[in-house]
Amino acid sequence: MAKPDRASNGTPPLLQARNIVKSINTGAGDLHILKGISMDLRPGELTLLMGPSGSGKTTLLSILGCILTATSGELHLAGHQAVGLSSEELAEIRRLHIGFVFQSYNLFPTLTALENVLVALDVRDALSPDPIETAAEALKAVGLSHRMHAFPSKLSGGEKQRVAIARSLAGRPSVVLADEPTAALDSENGKAVMELLKEVAKDPTRAVMAVTHDHRTLHYADRIITIEDGRIVGDDRSPNKGGPGPGHGPGEAPRKKNVAA
Ligand SMILES: Nc1ncnc2c1ncn2[C@@H]1O[C@H](COP(=O)(O)OP(=O)(O)OP(=O)(O)O)[C@@H](O)[C@H]1O
Ligand SMILES: [Mg+2]
Repeated sequence: MAKPDRASNGTPPLLQARNIVKSINTGAGDLHILKGISMDLRPGELTLLMGPSGSGKTTLLSILGCILTATSGELHLAGHQAVGLSSEELAEIRRLHIGFVFQSYNLFPTLTALENVLVALDVRDALSPDPIETAAEALKAVGLSHRMHAFPSKLSGGEKQRVAIARSLAGRPSVVLADEPTAALDSENGKAVMELLKEVAKDPTRAVMAVTHDHRTLHYADRIITIEDGRIVGDDRSPNKGGPGPGHGPGEAPRKKNVAA
């Protein structure tokens, strides 16, 4: 394994994936979903992952988040090599280092916002001396102090997604991964969620990557990675420099720099 690449400020990446392959035996033959993905995630960056439906975005995010294991390749996360580990070992890495935000929020309907965040802290062995205070702080950080005792059925889509983000952040993971976090939201709530993720990514100890189809989110990106048919076809580290800036119109594709996969 090569030495970790360093960002211009000398910071090593928090996550490094090398030649990640994911194939599934469908019975009717092997389906090759990811065909050799190499990338890293650096602290202080918000990376957007884009690509057509079926290109492998969720599969990639799930592998980077140690929810799925790759068929082959290397995944280095906080000093661990994750490919080939048992599900218990993957769960441990996930518990300590990953915050995952799902498109459909995945909140427990019978628990309040506060309790939903507390559950995540519980799974993390309550690293904090006062889990209730930590959970309340996480909800405050997403602007939901006033809704902490509400059940998910009483929250708007945007509020539910903010609870899900608070839950993903409460254990202070170094890598936050979000799969289409704005897809179910109207533009105002989508904007609030992206602003929040951007804020999270300003933390120099954290990296955030979000899958998106939503061109309104592009101007939040420090970097845009594009995948097609299981391969990286674009990796733009300065998507908003020298271009039209926040005014990216709907339907406008990110500028691509071709990279070797
Ligand atoms: N467990 C599985 N069994 C069979 N096929 C799968 C499985 N998981 C994913 N696939 C297939 O792999 C391809 C990539 O799926 P994936 O969910 O990663 O795509 P995606 O880029 O997230 O798409 P979308 O934008 O629609 O969410 C798809 O063709 C999908 O049908
Ligand atoms: Mg998907």
